[in-house]
Amino acid sequence: MCGIVGAVAQRNITPILIEGLRRLEYRGYDSAGVAVLADGNGIKRVRAVGKVIELENALANSPANGHLGIAHTRWATHGKPAEHNAHPHISGKLVVVHNGIIENHAPLRKRLIDLGYQFTSETDTEVVAHLIAHYFQQNHDLLEAFRTALGELHGAYALALIHEDQPQTLYCARMGSPLVIGEGSEEHYIASDPLALLQVTDRFRYLEEGDHARLSMTRCEIWDSRNNPVDRPVKRYEHAAHSLEKGEYRHYMLKEIFEQPQAISDTLSGTLGDDHVLTAVLGPEAETRLADIANIHIVACGTSYHAGLVARYWIEEQAGIPCCVEVASEYRYRTVVVPANTLLITISQSGETADTLAALRFAKDQGYLATLAICNVAGSSLVREADWRLLTHAGPEIGVASTKAFTTQLVALLWLTTALAQVRNRDSAVIQRNVQALKTLPQVIQQSLELAPRITSLAERFANKHHALFLGRGTHYPIAMEGALKLKEISYIHAEAYAAGELKHGPLALVDEDMPVVSVAPSDSLLEKLKSNLEEVRARGGQLITFACETIEQGEPDANHEVITLPWVEDCISPIVYTIPLQLLSYHVALVKGTDVDKPRNLAKSVTVE
Ligand code: M6R
Repeated sequence: MCGIVGAVAQRNITPILIEGLRRLEYRGYDSAGVAVLADGNGIKRVRAVGKVIELENALANSPANGHLGIAHTRWATHGKPAEHNAHPHISGKLVVVHNGIIENHAPLRKRLIDLGYQFTSETDTEVVAHLIAHYFQQNHDLLEAFRTALGELHGAYALALIHEDQPQTLYCARMGSPLVIGEGSEEHYIASDPLALLQVTDRFRYLEEGDHARLSMTRCEIWDSRNNPVDRPVKRYEHAAHSLEKGEYRHYMLKEIFEQPQAISDTLSGTLGDDHVLTAVLGPEAETRLADIANIHIVACGTSYHAGLVARYWIEEQAGIPCCVEVASEYRYRTVVVPANTLLITISQSGETADTLAALRFAKDQGYLATLAICNVAGSSLVREADWRLLTHAGPEIGVASTKAFTTQLVALLWLTTALAQVRNRDSAVIQRNVQALKTLPQVIQQSLELAPRITSLAERFANKHHALFLGRGTHYPIAMEGALKLKEISYIHAEAYAAGELKHGPLALVDEDMPVVSVAPSDSLLEKLKSNLEEVRARGGQLITFACETIEQGEPDANHEVITLPWVEDCISPIVYTIPLQLLSYHVALVKGTDVDKPRNLAKSVTVE
């Protein structure tokens, strides 16, 4: 998704803007641009299609230095990826960058054209530039013009604005798309994500929905949606800048896969007692109301949705609470029946996913007992807007393919299930078993990571394949779904997941020697049933790859059936452990295919538009 960086500072800000854009590359984009108030030479704008390096090359030919500027990485929504559509957009002496979608851009564009404004792009953003310019021409007050224009915009935006005649002032606003203000010493910055600014500051103010701000080197003025001055406190960003580097790893995704033991350990830190979970982690209000929860609705997107699907099995079995799980893009647009005392749980790595955030806002009027955000970003919109929060501590996840965020979400959800079982006085043996299993988990994950060399050779089998099936049962069915999503996302191989019992109801027709069938087969109560399903695949010449428990008799080796064994683990943590080889498999298949692992085509890390 689009990324914004802006700065007003004593020093030349162009290198800071470019470094910020580089740090936002993980979000996905197709073009980049910068506008700087060049010392004594007015606004200088440089734009380029492609990577930030192309913009740097353009800047090398046409340097732009100054103390005030805004920069942008664009992910095309309105208008194809092209230089004339890249941000910043200009109207007279005024320059704008935008993240989000202006839904009423078409009537506004028509009105502005009628007023004589000329458009040079197909973007919705250029409308904003001309609209502000229009009001500024009328009242000569840029703050007022900005406010009036904001009042007419429908949709989602984070916006930054500079004007040639105000060389020390940076304006910004947020509604539906994230924006933070970075505090330096006699300098101010803005960005879509604090990660973009960690080279210059670790102190941030998080704008709330509807806020707008005016920044100079020394002043930071913020107003809410009613134009009341507000104070948004400065918070220190907790992750060190080096956590954003690839270090010895070839890709962020691989680094993040190998960070999972630590990420899980950090997520569990301070949450477990000897044989019980410490429910105080949820905060005083949530802790006292846990026992009132009679129903649970879980809403999320993508990988986070898969985490919710696993949790449904746990919550219903262990806590005895009915649980529904739904993708946010569906949930937010339908009529929802909310039984009494229902908790809404939203799950998100970024906490900025547009559909998940909209679902949370929609849920506020639906009569829920409370809303809980399970999220990896403490300062995110989702965390700030939910009633209760449960943070995962995976650290920054840069690779578009979610890995450590997923396993830490599962950890948080198993912890929550145990907390619910505990307050409802469910079987204490189950609670103790969960707690002990969670404590061993970082070490068990470390062992699963040792499968990497074995999986490297396995990946070659996918080199010429165009399709793959993933099978699982019970809690491992959503793990098969996650395995299929990972494979398709980064290797571009079409992959589908099925509950293994569904095989004969259709997908078996696809099975032949060209179809790899990956199955997740731990030693659980459904193993014998799964084995029968796998026999159906073997009988039809399918290429089986099975991830199984080392304690189970595997039978004679077979050229059409590769079995990779994992250590025995308790059922409750098994879905988390079996995720690891599937992540490694998709990573190594992507290497074989030669795709852009960390930034797969057409995808963005943070999906801040619906
Ligand atoms: O930040 P979120 O967890 O809300 O993101 C949700 C999805 O966009 C995300 O999980 C996506 O499916 C990943 N790229 C999958 O690897």
